Amino acid sequence: VTAAAVDVAALRRQARALLPAPSYDYYAGGSGSERTLRKNKHAWREVWLAPRVLRDVSAVDTGIELLGARLRTPVCVAPTGFHRLGHAEGEVATAEGAARAGALFVLSMRSTRRIEDVAAVLDAHGGTWWFQVYVMDDRELTAAMVRRAAAAGARALVLTADTPVVGRKRRDSDELEISDDDLLVNLGQVDPQQMAQAADLTVADIGWLAQVSGGLPVVVKGVLHPDDAVACVAAGAAGVIVSNHGGRQLDQALPTAWALPAVAAAAHGSGTGVYVDGGLRTGLDVLAALALGAQAVFLGRPVLWALACGGAAGVADLLTGLTSDLEHAMALAGARTVPEVAQLRLAAAGLPGRTGT
Ligand SMILES: Cc1cc2nc3c(=O)[nH]c(=O)nc-3n(C[C@H](O)[C@H](O)[C@H](O)COP(=O)(O)O)c2cc1C
Repeated sequence: VTAAAVDVAALRRQARALLPAPSYDYYAGGSGSERTLRKNKHAWREVWLAPRVLRDVSAVDTGIELLGARLRTPVCVAPTGFHRLGHAEGEVATAEGAARAGALFVLSMRSTRRIEDVAAVLDAHGGTWWFQVYVMDDRELTAAMVRRAAAAGARALVLTADTPVVGRKRRDSDELEISDDDLLVNLGQVDPQQMAQAADLTVADIGWLAQVSGGLPVVVKGVLHPDDAVACVAAGAAGVIVSNHGGRQLDQALPTAWALPAVAAAAHGSGTGVYVDGGLRTGLDVLAALALGAQAVFLGRPVLWALACGGAAGVADLLTGLTSDLEHAMALAGARTVPEVAQLRLAAAGLPGRTGT
């Protein structure tokens, strides 16, 4: 008997066998001694749940509404760079897979396919997408990318806030092969300083991005501290993503399962959405995240493994399978809808991850 529809560890092993070692290591690695990378995964498994019973779970609905869009699943695709390292079709294939599963796709600014080409495939499959922004040293260049994404149909911007400088990863290799054609497909010929990360970001940049984009909602990614969540809410953020960048930025940053309850409490009642990523690998992990107050979750590496192994179909199968595993876990926990998961107070008090409500 297979326990679940999806086995991410098996997908990862298959991807490792397929990919050149430097590409695999770029996808898999974390910063420093990879303490946060490892802890992210284990922390979800320490969230113990008190299932609810006698609640008529004959119809369980995994659908959500996210910033005005209807999605079939709360499992979303996190922005990750350089998909052509994993598959020749790159982001176009990933986006198609997400759209086919009814899942939100977030396109990274480090896309190796043109924004407009990714948008076209999403359009063709009725997909919803957001555009992730690294504010670059050259603000005008950043603004130009944002305007292109808005014109192409992005429904929101994701401002990555945890990368004022890029984390040092010991697994990064000089032999990683990203051609200039891939690296600069959206930027054109720019000098490296122009595209370097801006280290002087503040909460004022939330408003700047909203304005530059002609009024798109701005979601801030990389929030771990509840005081930062409060500051983002005050600055008009439409949402925050509790994230430590998959353990690729500050090593020893706390696992997202531990950070989530306090951030959810800080944003509670504000109308600002709370989402989470980092180490989520199973339908049960997703249920735990929803129980701790996330309205949606994002997956990074599992999507890259699925892309490498199976292109668009592989991505669609991963997201559909995880959603079916979530649906099964929701029935066992007594939750009929995604918003209900948080209301049922499933996360056991007195244990790691308690909600405190
Ligand atoms: C290979 C790789 C590339 C990434 N590139 C980006 C990026 O371009 N922009 C961004 O905001 N986050 C990026 N991230 C972070 C992801 O959005 C996400 O926070 C993280 O992968 C979630 O953890 P998980 O991989 O354990 O699911 C990247 C992560 C990985 C693994």
